[in-house]
Amino acid sequence: MHDNIESHLVEKRIFKPRTDFAKNARIKSLAQYQRMYRESLRQPAKFWAREASELVWRARWKKVLEWKAPFAKWFAGGKLNISENCLDRHLTGPRRNKAAIIWEGEPGDKRTLTYQQLHREVCRFANVLKRNNIKKGDRVIIYLPNIPETAVAMLACARIGAVHSVVFGGFSADSIRDRIADSGAIAVVTADGAYRRGGIVPLKKNVDEALRDGTSVRRVIVFRRAGNEIHMEEGRDVWWHRELEYVDANCPPVPLDSEHPLYLLYTSGSTGKPKGILHTTGGYLVGVYSSTKYIFDIRDEDIFWCTADVGWVTGHSYIVYGPLANGATTIMYEGAPNWPEPDRFWKIIEEYRVNILYTAPTAIRAFIRWGDHWVAKHDLSSLRLLGTVGEPINPEAWMWYYKNIGGGRCPVVDTWWQTETGSILITPLPGAIPTKPGSATLPFFGIDPAIVDEKGREVGANVGGKLIIRRPWPAMLRTIYGDKARYRQQYWSEFKGNYLTGDGARRDEDGYFWIVGRIDDVLNVAGHRLGTSEIESALVSHPQVAEAAVVGRPDELKGQGVVAFVTLKASVSVTGGLKAELREHVGVHIGAIAKPDEVRFAEALPKTRSGKIMRRLLKEIASGARVTGDTTTLEDFSVLAKLAESEE
Ligand code: WT7
Repeated sequence: MHDNIESHLVEKRIFKPRTDFAKNARIKSLAQYQRMYRESLRQPAKFWAREASELVWRARWKKVLEWKAPFAKWFAGGKLNISENCLDRHLTGPRRNKAAIIWEGEPGDKRTLTYQQLHREVCRFANVLKRNNIKKGDRVIIYLPNIPETAVAMLACARIGAVHSVVFGGFSADSIRDRIADSGAIAVVTADGAYRRGGIVPLKKNVDEALRDGTSVRRVIVFRRAGNEIHMEEGRDVWWHRELEYVDANCPPVPLDSEHPLYLLYTSGSTGKPKGILHTTGGYLVGVYSSTKYIFDIRDEDIFWCTADVGWVTGHSYIVYGPLANGATTIMYEGAPNWPEPDRFWKIIEEYRVNILYTAPTAIRAFIRWGDHWVAKHDLSSLRLLGTVGEPINPEAWMWYYKNIGGGRCPVVDTWWQTETGSILITPLPGAIPTKPGSATLPFFGIDPAIVDEKGREVGANVGGKLIIRRPWPAMLRTIYGDKARYRQQYWSEFKGNYLTGDGARRDEDGYFWIVGRIDDVLNVAGHRLGTSEIESALVSHPQVAEAAVVGRPDELKGQGVVAFVTLKASVSVTGGLKAELREHVGVHIGAIAKPDEVRFAEALPKTRSGKIMRRLLKEIASGARVTGDTTTLEDFSVLAKLAESEE
């Protein structure tokens, strides 16, 4: 029936929330959503105060929002602790003995931590931090696999007011070093190794390498996970389990100012240097709490699984803080989706009777490729709601997800947001908003998005433009760490007083948002943002490379693939292994995720007279298309012909 889903007729399908789902949902109808949405825009202070009142505050805020564009203070004057809201708050009732985290390691080991147990672990580790002289405001790098200890370390930092910065376990030593340098972190929490596809990623070794030439870090706390042999540096490195022997489980949460920094998370921008996105306490908590509650319509009896890595913002907001603030049960899985076989996810869903699954389009496309029989082997009838995040989902993948995973019975919430936004901003509400495959649909409460042209004028229905957000929201970033000017310039200057998302989008005749993707020089590879200039500088750091230009090309599986055009130094002659060597070089300097799918050697890169590389042309060449657009600003036409031939 849905065979020809790429055709326009079928793409226009609308899936109305089923009545049995809507009946029990918090938001039960489009009319109810519209009423609440209007209220949230007309009286934002009232709306957000009501949400915030469901949480624990040590001192009530004086003002819901102080907005001196582009700097926001949410719940100004309020005092709270986010770990108290995620843990202590649930210990007085029946949630005390409820599973907070259900974890499965890649090799198949399992652990469940109840709220009370998680609370205890967090208190003990917070005391370990204190014992190691880590204080309120200090920055702590967390470089761990997807294991409960990652959540424990995050919450322990939050409990004492230290600022965590989780570095994704797939990043290399160079990436860790950059983040330490930018954040001025004094401690690193890591593990000996992480399991990945049966092998061991040497996390501690990467940390040693990052610290080799001296940094601000004076303490490394090492969790024993993989049992691989590591070096422990006397006076700097301590074992997690040894430290626990010296502490008790008594650690009251420190009441913190609502705007106290909670975490830094580094993300790619269009210039070389990753940006430290700063999130703070009160607004972030309210944002992730209420978005988890309404969008996943989460219930006490639900088992919620967000398949992201804790190292990305999705993991911060929807594995750790959002679900735990709601007293939910959150699943955490350490490894790869195809280990040992391509049905690992479906096995986990069947075994734990998962109710809500939140994953990425790139994963869905991989599942489609691996074959439906891996899915069919398992009972997925426990699922009642599906979500996606990270990139636009093609209608074909949406339909497959809906039919094969959701059995045609589960609503699909395609949630649009960013590291910077902290929480989901554009999304269906599963009991209220009819969905269209490929559209993130309508704005969440309190969010005021628009699509504008170059001059900032709102465009009409079905006209493409830049996606902006016209007012602040609670979980928004507060600044780029240490660089207010860049924060202002990057997000708030093009259309004064409006937040620039960097995404292109259109709105259809029903007001539904269709996100097209990034408009700047940032790629979205398998749901992860990569700055092209970071990959370029990694390539240029290779002794044989003169110049590099990196562009994306459509990739069936990853959304975008990475193509690098490279010119070599004059003295260098191309050897057979050089392409592989350059890919490896990028892997070492940034991480495997950034390795170019294709390296093309060129004699020269197409440039304008002012020396700017014409990426548009390279993109066309990279995707195998003929160069069609305007080339009049190109300096040397012969470059084009040679480039087209550069493919082997
Ligand atoms: C960029 C943000 C938010 C956590 C994951 C990525 C793209 C994200 C969607 C979606 C279309 C999406 C955007 C955005 N994106 N979700 N549902 N539909 N595009 O976080 O690394 O900060 O990347 O991911 O381009 O700007 P991030």
